[in-house]
Amino acid sequence: MGGREFAVFYVTTPIYYVNARPHIGSAYTTIAADVLARYHRLKGDDVFFLTGTDEHGQKIEQEARLKGVSPKELADSVVEQFVRCWKTLGITYDHLVRTTDSYHEEAVRHLFSLLQNKGDIYRATYRGPYCIPCESYLRPSELKDGNCPLCGRPVILLEQENYFFRLSKYQRVLLTHFENNPDFVLPRSRYNEVLNRIREGLDDISISRTAFKWGVAVPNDPEQVIWVWFDALTNYLSGIGYPKDSERFERYWSCAVHLLGKDILWFHACIWPAMLFAAGLTPPKQMFVHGWWTVEGEKMSKSRGNVVYPEEIVEKFGCDQLRYFLLRETPFGQDGDFSEEALVRRINNDLADELGNLLNRVVGMAQRYYGGKLPERPAEVAFSELVGKATALPERVDAHLERFAFSVALSDIWDFIRLMNRLIDHTKPWELRKKGEEERVAALLHNLVDGLRVVSWLLEPFMPDAASQMRRQLDAEDEEADWQTRIAWGRSKGGQRLERGRILFRKHSE
Ligand code: MSP
Repeated sequence: MGGREFAVFYVTTPIYYVNARPHIGSAYTTIAADVLARYHRLKGDDVFFLTGTDEHGQKIEQEARLKGVSPKELADSVVEQFVRCWKTLGITYDHLVRTTDSYHEEAVRHLFSLLQNKGDIYRATYRGPYCIPCESYLRPSELKDGNCPLCGRPVILLEQENYFFRLSKYQRVLLTHFENNPDFVLPRSRYNEVLNRIREGLDDISISRTAFKWGVAVPNDPEQVIWVWFDALTNYLSGIGYPKDSERFERYWSCAVHLLGKDILWFHACIWPAMLFAAGLTPPKQMFVHGWWTVEGEKMSKSRGNVVYPEEIVEKFGCDQLRYFLLRETPFGQDGDFSEEALVRRINNDLADELGNLLNRVVGMAQRYYGGKLPERPAEVAFSELVGKATALPERVDAHLERFAFSVALSDIWDFIRLMNRLIDHTKPWELRKKGEEERVAALLHNLVDGLRVVSWLLEPFMPDAASQMRRQLDAEDEEADWQTRIAWGRSKGGQRLERGRILFRKHSE
């Protein structure tokens, strides 16, 4: 099976700036990474899931000044909010790296010195536009109406003695890497976007600043602070032990998968691999670039006052509901639009009417007909369409997740859920009972219990609470079994006790 390819699985999110508390944009990447991490753990893989916070740079320094606190105080309080939010969302990260952690700062200095000793970092004068909100150096030709092409805000003109990274030297190597690894950057449109830009030529980039102090000082030159992106990208190495714990680092690094939003593609797909080549390291195995969420058609921003905070949505609608919505509503890779109406529609239709109702019908049937205890499994139990679909489903979901196609995986699972509902409608167990076709009713029920168990395991990474609640009601907890056993068909047994539990998904008024 395709999934075996990653016996070791290392997944990362971008590290989040600490000038604002988490919103659904930051939650999105983190939930996606969590689903992958949980899925690979279920399969028995050796998983490391890294997230973190990006705490240095002028932007954070300015925000702290505005609030009248030190940058570290600001970072500490926002990090607390991130940690709380990730807990509320059921995020099972293995480590949260902070760029102010001393082991991280050490790794940044180590990498900087390594590149400097190789001659890939040198000192020269920089003169040109700089965008503070994006913390990025720009070419004059890149500006849009004199503003930053990334965020549209005004830029400043910067002139200073800086350290430069010899990015231009890595153009050939990068082009070869892209050519040899067509799945290095997914989706393909993003791969093409970066490749075309690399083909246009690469300038060396300035990687230090003197205008402020909040950052990692350049080794042996305390006047200069290392550029926040050089600092931030290094988290993917420091978070797994680089450079000190080489065993842990090597185990995970060769399997690294980065998830990121489209706005930070260039840093990850060009600058980062070039830095790694310069350090004699391999680029990450793969990166997936997702789209952006708008809110009711508008860009989300503090000034518009339309920022959606995950904790508030969880409080009102539930955690599994939000996780499901974000990954189902929009194909990963495309932009999505958030609204409570759309969320409620998904909850009412997919979760309550289709999945919740199916579970209810199955448990209800067992109770009504058999006092809650599954009858013995009849010799002839197969409803062939159901069995065929159920045995193919885990591999299909696996293949979709391998390609980060969360919404397709969920929609496949939902086709199967609908099939089970239709099977009850068409088989009409209540009529079969009247006709005395007891065997067929028992067979139907066994098939449905099996099908729901398989569904619950496939949904486990997406909606862990609902999935375990389903198994509890089906008496199919399978705590000790391995993944292949858990998703195998035909394991329902006579005597299994089906019991109603808490309602899986409450409906909301539309
Ligand atoms: N600190 C840098 C990343 C450094 S990684 C070495 C940064 N931080 S960020 O907090 O501004 O953004 C983090 C991630 O959140 C990015 O992947 C970005 O695309 C994502 N999102 C921010 N707003 C978003 C939406 N409205 N929708 C979806 N994702 C969004 O960039």
